[in-house]
Parts: sequence; C-alpha cells; structure tokens
Amino acid sequence: MKIVAFIGSPRKGGNTDRLVDEILAGAAEAGHQAEKIYLADYALTPIDAVYGGELDWTDPRQDVADELIDKIVAADVAILGSPVYWFSISGLMKLFIDRWSLYQRGGQRLRDLTAGKKMLVALAMADPNAGYVDAVLAPLRYGAKWLKMEWAGQIIADGVGDPGEVENHPELLAEARKLGQSL
Ligand SMILES: Cc1cc2nc3c(=O)[nH]c(=O)nc-3n(C[C@H](O)[C@H](O)[C@H](O)COP(=O)(O)O)c2cc1C
Repeated sequence: MKIVAFIGSPRKGGNTDRLVDEILAGAAEAGHQAEKIYLADYALTPIDAVYGGELDWTDPRQDVADELIDKIVAADVAILGSPVYWFSISGLMKLFIDRWSLYQRGGQRLRDLTAGKKMLVALAMADPNAGYVDAVLAPLRYGAKWLKMEWAGQIIADGVGDPGEVENHPELLAEARKLGQSL
C-alpha cells in the first residue's frame, strides 16, 4: 500500500513528527511505502471565496494545495499528524483540510476520489487525559466519513509538551508502531 503522511506541526522532530515516524516504521515492516510531508514547508493559503452559487467548486488557483491533495488521491492511506492547538487540530492542518473542498480532477470532487481509502490520525498534546480529545477527533472522523474513507485508527500522545518528549513514553511509540503494522 501507498501511504502519504502530513505533519501539521511547524516543529520538525517534534512529538507529532516522531509519532508519525513510528507509525511509518511499523508500516514499512508490513511492506508499505510512505511519503512524509511537512505542511509547514509549503506556502499554503486559505480557501478562497470561489464556491457556491453559479460557481462549480473548482479552485482557479490550482496551487500547491492541489498538488498535495493529488498525493492523497494517489495513495491508499492518508495519515494526518497534528499537535493539539487550542483544543483543536493545528491551524496549518485545518487550512490544508479546508482546501480539500475545492479540489477537483477530471470533473470529480475529492470525495469521489477517496472512497475506500484509509485515514489514520496521530495527535500530540501537552494535557494528560484531556476530556476534549474526542472533540478534537470528531471533525476528522466526520471528514473521513464524508470522504467515504475508512477510519484506520488514531493514536493520541497526551502529556507531551516539550519537543521530543514522546521519547519518554515507549508505550506510546510501541502503540504507534503497531498501528502502522496493522495497515
Ligand atoms: C499554539 C499552541 C496551542 C496549544 N494548545 C494546546 C491545547 O489546547 N491542549 C494541549 O494539550 N496542548 C496544547 N499545546 C501544546 C502542544 O500540543 C504540545 O506541545 C505538542 O507536544 C506539540 O506537538 P509537536 O511537538 O509535534 O509540535 C499547544 C501548543 C501551542 C504552540
């Protein structure tokens, strides 16, 4: 299987990055190929007001967001890795996801092209045992459903604030690796 992983943290080598690396290591053991993309490396811009009414939900910009979304279309599994910022996913990840709305290829919208693919989510957050994790995951779960994608699981590294702090939690890294192996 082909995997594309998006990192929604500006902190390279941070907790999200490390968690996703472990998922990808597990996936490699299972024989899968993966590409990891740092969203912070791309000049992503917010969705524009070119939808609705007479318009056909096509983004005339056809910029880097579309190129990154092409990678989801070309893959079997999309991994979304995000730190929790303000009780939600990071703005960078949200901005990227919003751009999915105007994606079209050959007259087909994204949800026609993602049916049957898998989505897997990795979150890193400083709060331990936070009661709001389900609220953070909910839009992603609904998003997967909207895109007719199968939910392949999630891993939550909670109680990790400093960069690389997830290294102090071998049980989380083992869980991440197992998740990757299960793909
Ligand atoms: C702008 C900002 C907002 C944050 N909000 C939260 C939060 O609501 N809940 C939480 O548990 N941690 C919060 N954190 C802490 C990060 O989630 C935590 O440091 C995480 O490990 C960062 O992951 P990274 O190393 O991949 O960047 C916040 C950090 C930043 C910079």
